[in-house]
Amino acid sequence: MRIAMIGTGYVGLVSGTCFSEFGIQVVCVDKDARKIDLLRQNVMPIYEPGLDELVAANVEANRLSFTTDLKSAVAEADAVFIAVGTPSRRGDGHADLSYVYAAAEEIADALNGYTVIVTKSTVPVSTGDEVERIIRARRPDAEFDVVSNPEFLREGSAINDFLRPDRVVIGTESERARKVMKQLYRVLYLIETPIVFTSRRTSELIKYAGNTFLATKISFINEIADLCEKVGADVHDVAKGIGLDGRIGKKFLHPGPGYGGSCFPKDTLALVQTARDFNSPLSIIEQVIAVNDRRKKSMADRVVAACGGSVSGKAIAVLGLTFKPNTDDMRDSPSIDIVAGLIGAGATVRTFDPEGMGEAKKLLPSQVIYCDDAYATLPGAECLVIVTEWNEFRAIDLDRVKTLLAAPRIVDLRNVYEPAEMQELGFEYYSIGRV
Ligand code: UDX
Repeated sequence: MRIAMIGTGYVGLVSGTCFSEFGIQVVCVDKDARKIDLLRQNVMPIYEPGLDELVAANVEANRLSFTTDLKSAVAEADAVFIAVGTPSRRGDGHADLSYVYAAAEEIADALNGYTVIVTKSTVPVSTGDEVERIIRARRPDAEFDVVSNPEFLREGSAINDFLRPDRVVIGTESERARKVMKQLYRVLYLIETPIVFTSRRTSELIKYAGNTFLATKISFINEIADLCEKVGADVHDVAKGIGLDGRIGKKFLHPGPGYGGSCFPKDTLALVQTARDFNSPLSIIEQVIAVNDRRKKSMADRVVAACGGSVSGKAIAVLGLTFKPNTDDMRDSPSIDIVAGLIGAGATVRTFDPEGMGEAKKLLPSQVIYCDDAYATLPGAECLVIVTEWNEFRAIDLDRVKTLLAAPRIVDLRNVYEPAEMQELGFEYYSIGRV
């Protein structure tokens, strides 16, 4: 089997590399010649733990290669995956499908023999129909099927999520395409991974329903955390107490500053738009979005309140900027609102993030001071704010933190420390929803 993976962004690069790890011949295609050049030298365009090693091993084994030549890659492929970006369209929140449709046109022109075209990008319901229409219009003679096969990769653990997934979802009405997809995922059959075969439209909807449900869980526990603070309860025990009920499940009940990243904010918005278009509004998801937006904005107020009502002229140390650990991704990160809020309130912000500072410099106000390590953010600061739960912040030397800060004050927006221990150490400690 041979695959052409169109797009070497996050999803395309991880998926292509992992398919080659399954023993399949994979050619990853991108228009960006510089990116392809760097990939050939094993320089990754994104930070993902373990990816460079896996790419190197599969290139070495002659199963994985990189090219800008879409035409030959597609002509030789049994399956062509579309893994290009689907950003939120400005103005209306709909997914912007122009890259997907442009890829469909180019693929159409290059098809050679029966080919399965797979949408891996997250695309709204009925996009597969449109991809099929575009290809059929350009190549009425071509033999092909269009299949939906959404990704469920989490940044930071994407390789494991691909190689050992909870499930694979494949949407197609064609028996011929189904056979090809079964071949591609043969390795997962061997480890008894559940494979859900369904219609193409259902598969497209599963992806959005999954992500919006997870976003709902997070907004739910965040609101419960706020209530815990008011009534003197502990949100971690609430999450455990409800999560042990198998119907609820214990994952995605960790409270924090609000969800960010490349998927949840974009996908919740896009599904709400689709639902409006079909006159079937999703009022719960609309509220989830509103709750999350408000939450991200209100986090700076927590810091201001902890500092006695004003941070004007004060230094604040912010640790962690990415939307979660083990990534350099800053997209829709809560840190963007938090840092802007603190600077707006007159604070000087000193910050450190192990991987995200390059991206952060493009997005955060120019006044932000970037430091070389966590401790360098602290001297003379009124407060330390934990925004992203990188392991190195969990393991920080708290005695040293205390001596460096102007006041022994920590606002922990990820609950990485234990309230009782922090009190014992003499910190004024603010958690999310814990007593
Ligand atoms: C998500 C989905 O998990 C994945 O299946 C999909 O394919 C892409 O989107 P990702 O965006 O990489 O993956 O990150 P994820 O680990 O799901 O976290 C998303 C956001 O939710 C982060 O900002 C994280 O901090 C937040 N989160 C997650 C919480 O605040 N609490 C939780 O309990 C879990």
